[in-house]
Amino acid sequence: MQPPRRCLLLLSLLCHLLLSGTWADLEEAFTIRLLQISTFQNSSFVDTEGLGLLDDIELGSLDNHTWNIRFHQPWVRPALPRSDWDTIQDMIKIYLQQFSYLVNEGAVQNDVPYPFVAQCMAGCTLYPNKTTQAFVQVGVDGQDFLSFSVDNATWLLSQDTSLSRYVKDVLQNYTAFTELIEVLFNDTCIDDMEMLLYYGKAALERQELPVATVFARTPSPAQLLLVCRVTGFYPRSISVAWLRDGQEVPPGPDTNTSAILPNADLTYQLRSVLAVAPHDGHSYACRVRHRSLGTRSLLIPWGYSDVVLIAGLVAGLLAVVAMAAVMMLWLWRRRKHRQMEESTSRNSILSKEA
Ligand SMILES: *[C@@H]1O[C@H](CO)[C@@H](O)[C@H](O)[C@H]1NC(C)=O
Ligand SMILES: *[C@@H]1O[C@H](CO)[C@@H](O)[C@H](O)[C@H]1NC(C)=O
Ligand SMILES: *[C@@H]1O[C@H](CO)[C@@H](O)[C@H](O)[C@H]1NC(C)=O
Ligand SMILES: *[C@@H]1O[C@H](CO)[C@@H](O)[C@H](O)[C@H]1NC(C)=O
Ligand SMILES: *[C@@H]1O[C@H](CO)[C@@H](O)[C@H](O)[C@H]1NC(C)=O
Ligand SMILES: *[C@@H]1O[C@H](CO)[C@@H](O)[C@H](O)[C@H]1NC(C)=O
Repeated sequence: MQPPRRCLLLLSLLCHLLLSGTWADLEEAFTIRLLQISTFQNSSFVDTEGLGLLDDIELGSLDNHTWNIRFHQPWVRPALPRSDWDTIQDMIKIYLQQFSYLVNEGAVQNDVPYPFVAQCMAGCTLYPNKTTQAFVQVGVDGQDFLSFSVDNATWLLSQDTSLSRYVKDVLQNYTAFTELIEVLFNDTCIDDMEMLLYYGKAALERQELPVATVFARTPSPAQLLLVCRVTGFYPRSISVAWLRDGQEVPPGPDTNTSAILPNADLTYQLRSVLAVAPHDGHSYACRVRHRSLGTRSLLIPWGYSDVVLIAGLVAGLLAVVAMAAVMMLWLWRRRKHRQMEESTSRNSILSKEA
């Protein structure tokens, strides 16, 4: 059976070559996260939600009745062989059954009042330098509860209560389970991530340009708040700064930048506020840098704009070119329209004459 094996070898070699291609240009860290939220209403009723993410992309979720995997991206299922998905699905089902059973048993033994919520997060991170990091964390009612140290395969207390100590001891006693977790998140997770990075390349490299606007608010006559609102960008990472007369304003008591918040269409938004005195004679601009802009930056001026134009050379120039293009298009359309009108009227005159 020599030929088939050689074929397989070739295939796996090819696969590795292709994959090492994607590995080579890994510019940032990627993280796979599996999230589980189990709400224990009483000792006989548990509602479990499960979600899998690659960074901020939803790979799939669990059907809460059947615990079957629902794929959220077309490239996720083809990334692994069917038998791997079957194994993963079976493991999830066995795990969730055991989890409910053990948690209920522990809750009854420790007089934990129902209802309560258990949250688990596990996964792995692959860094550009090719080192990896696995993580397993457990929370109860929104508080950190336990975590797992992959290095020495031990459970660590995040809170020191009789309940957390009990659960830690129970888990530590299940050596087979602990070993399984270690293999799953230190090895399998990284292997699967390689496949997902390859199959999901287009989705991961998606870029959406930020749209920025600057407007002012006057909470009091003595204060002017300049607001820079940036939205519609992807990926999430972005840099937004204020320029005063072309100089970057360092973050301080006058500046306030919101968290980066998600939009419904897997783009992001944030706003940055700068407090200034009205009519202070300075010019202000909001500067946005984002991967989708390449080496350019977006510059949205407020107030006097000549200084800003110098600072935002490229962005400004591009805007001018774009505006000129729009104007030329408009003029051309108008001329064409007029020509058409003229020709229509001439035609109608002609037809009248005919
Ligand atoms: C457990 O909770 C479910 C959902 O809230 C409810 O329908 C059921 O009657 C409860 N069972 C017991 C034994 O309390
Ligand atoms: C690899 O990168 C990560 C994250 O930047 C860092 O924590 C780790 O120390 C690096 N490891 C090596 C071996 O350089
Ligand atoms: C295991 O490693 C963690 C750090 O990751 C450390 O805090 C803990 O003390 C170690 N436990 C044992 C038993 O060595
Ligand atoms: C986890 O995986 C890394 C990379 O494959 C390996 O170097 C490390 O020894 C593994 N750790 C454990 C505890 O298995
Ligand atoms: C863990 O195992 C030890 C030894 O087998 C046993 O004495 C202990 O009661 C077990 N702990 C729990 C919480 O099951
Ligand atoms: C920043 O804005 C938030 C929300 O508007 C507000 O709660 C906070 O006090 C502000 N911080 C500063 C330093 O102005």
